[in-house]
Amino acid sequence: MNITFLLNGETVELADVNPTATLLDWLREDRGLTGTKEGCNEGDCGACTVMVTDEGGAKALNSCILFLPQLHGRAVRTVEGTSGPNGEAHPVQQAMVDLHGSQCGFCTPGFVMSMVSSHINGATDHDTQLAGNLCRCTGYAPIIRAAEAVEKHPVPVWVKDTPVTTQVTSSLLPGSSDELARIYAQYPDATLVAGATDVGLWVTKQLRDLDPVIFLNGCDDLKEITITEDEIRFGAMVDMNRMGEALADLHPSYAEMIRRYASVQVRHAATLGGNIANGSPIGDNPPALIALSAAVHLRKGDVRRSIPMESFFIDYGKQDRAPGEFVEAISFPRQTDRLKCYKLSKRFDQDISAVCGCFKISVVNGVVDDARIAFGGMAGIPKRAACVEAALVGEPWTLETIRAAVPAFADDFTPMTDMRASALYRLETAKALLERYFLEDQGEATNVLEVSA
Ligand SMILES: Cc1cc2nc3c(=O)[nH]c(=O)nc-3n(C[C@H](O)[C@H](O)[C@H](O)COP(=O)(O)OP(=O)(O)OC[C@H]3O[C@@H](n4cnc5c(N)ncnc54)[C@H](O)[C@@H]3O)c2cc1C
Ligand code: FES
Ligand code: FES
Repeated sequence: MNITFLLNGETVELADVNPTATLLDWLREDRGLTGTKEGCNEGDCGACTVMVTDEGGAKALNSCILFLPQLHGRAVRTVEGTSGPNGEAHPVQQAMVDLHGSQCGFCTPGFVMSMVSSHINGATDHDTQLAGNLCRCTGYAPIIRAAEAVEKHPVPVWVKDTPVTTQVTSSLLPGSSDELARIYAQYPDATLVAGATDVGLWVTKQLRDLDPVIFLNGCDDLKEITITEDEIRFGAMVDMNRMGEALADLHPSYAEMIRRYASVQVRHAATLGGNIANGSPIGDNPPALIALSAAVHLRKGDVRRSIPMESFFIDYGKQDRAPGEFVEAISFPRQTDRLKCYKLSKRFDQDISAVCGCFKISVVNGVVDDARIAFGGMAGIPKRAACVEAALVGEPWTLETIRAAVPAFADDFTPMTDMRASALYRLETAKALLERYFLEDQGEATNVLEVSA
């Protein structure tokens, strides 16, 4: 596979690249650019953060779970390419020095690259922007002060990159969903790589050899978001940051859950298609989408079919997807916003859900007209609470109805105990979340960030 991209402003052309070589390994071992650090090698710590520019703009990404073919046509900037042509420090670097933002320095290049990326984009929600960067010694206050200090500083011209114009060159890197359909039908055992926030770990942690692999990043038509009067449709390659932005006004509670999905770096890579197709019982999107009556659109060769999202998940590790068939898009009806998404995790930011409950309950004249409730983390698949829904529909919308319905959770779910939560915790919190939905609907503050003693 041949690929072309910009590295710190210079064109790099690589022939016959190992498709599952990570950018981090290549930078450090082939290029000697050791400023980019390896901490966890699984997308959690941000030590390996680089800035990548494509047609969607500049974004911070974790280079440890970014395969080289994902860079084709893009521009990469590492910490070595962040100071000016005459060695002058980037304003972010200078502020980190002036405001004592670094001690041992191991995390510092990663922080700097996240801050350079937010600076170029004018983002000032620094807690969110830096949630994916961990520091063991400095403490975060001086780093946030440094980020604040440069907010109004002009962006230095030398960090503004333009992506390279390239043709997609390989059958492993199709340039459209039509090409993907043709190639995947030919190699139905291939591993599809979308954002690689799951697949990357199969390589870096499980040391798996993946062959063949087909990269989806050249399929621009799978990155489309279409919002009409009747429907909202996301192509499978829409990443979590774009999805959160698109949902901010339509379903703010869903958008807020996405804000707590991993980190900025992971959200820039992770796609909706990957979050559905991996079949994870604790993925954050499926419960919200099931509550919104979403459909999964699948394609194999020239044959397309659409199924309700809840029937896509058959059993743990088993989905309704044939070899050679891929997720093309997800859609759901445009509707009045009655959705609330509650993600419970051990850490507020940058953590995978222990329980994720999504509720959409419509009330007409004080009576429950319709209820769609779906959970992640309560079974081997994302699953609807059918018995609870049945206990609510047709009943008055009161606390008494809620309390009468909660025992039905035990009929819907037999959760398990694992490192994230015990079975008892999961069942009891699921019950409490239904009450939380009701209280929030009555205007009470229930968000942990809003509640005060
Ligand atoms: C640090 C970290 C934090 C995370 N936090 C969260 C979190 O808070 N919430 C959460 O839900 N997840 C989380 N994840 C998991 C991960 O981000 C998601 O599952 C992600 O959405 C996967 O998407 P991807 O594009 O990276 O998929 P990939 O890793 O590229 O692929 C995942 C799987 O889907 C298949 N696939 C991808 N696209 C398609 C397609 N279009 N059609 C068919 N098959 C396809 C691949 O072959 C593979 O089997 C986290 C991961 C990391 C590393
Ligand atoms: S090394 Fe930790 S996120 Fe990449
Ligand atoms: S300065 Fe030591 S880890 Fe951050």
